Amino acid sequence: MIIKNPEFKISAVSPKQYPNDGLPQIVLVGKSNVGKSSFINTMVNRKKLARTSSEPGKTRQINFYSMDNKFYFVDLPGYGYSKMSKEEQVRVGRFIEEYLSKCQNIALIIFLIDIRHSPTENDRLMYNYVINANKPCIIIANKADKIAVTKVDAQVKALQDELNPLKDFTFLPFSAERRIYSEKVWEEIEKFI
Ligand code: GTP
Ligand code: MG
Repeated sequence: MIIKNPEFKISAVSPKQYPNDGLPQIVLVGKSNVGKSSFINTMVNRKKLARTSSEPGKTRQINFYSMDNKFYFVDLPGYGYSKMSKEEQVRVGRFIEEYLSKCQNIALIIFLIDIRHSPTENDRLMYNYVINANKPCIIIANKADKIAVTKVDAQVKALQDELNPLKDFTFLPFSAERRIYSEKVWEEIEKFI
């Protein structure tokens, strides 16, 4: 899919600011620094549409990006930033959960994990949340450029065995650095919009 006009819509700090125009919302979740904002930029072939952070954990708003007025990419703050106090981490967790529970137009959750590492404790909590909430979700193993191309498929499979042994979720590799995997991810997204 080619998005002609991706544009920033709003930075929301509370549910009444979420767009409620009925358009599908495709939301990025994942730990801090996993590449949620970079994912959006790579998918729409822009360098700076979504702000990426050299300082993880700084994003405290929910940023909505309109894709040709057909759907939104929703960039959530990351969880599990270790330099954040426990209280702050709980607050961010509630903020994420508030969006996931109150937004009526979630068409798909794109759950990003790091291809190089086993899912974190927080990743498991998120996974359980998604299962219990019964929301459509695909899991994307990002930063695939950091491992050998020949190891990518086996690593994605190993992560799925670990996180989703029933194998009922779609798992795909991705690299926000290299666009080679974006076509397959678009194919998956198109099923939900
Ligand atoms: P928070 O907003 O803090 O939760 O982080 P985020 O998940 O939005 O991560 P962000 O997109 O800001 O990326 C964090 C860092 O990882 C940046 O330095 C990116 O350039 C880098 N990064 C993201 N995706 C990739 C990738 O696929 N490969 C490589 N090598 N680096 C990546
Ligand atoms: Mg971000």
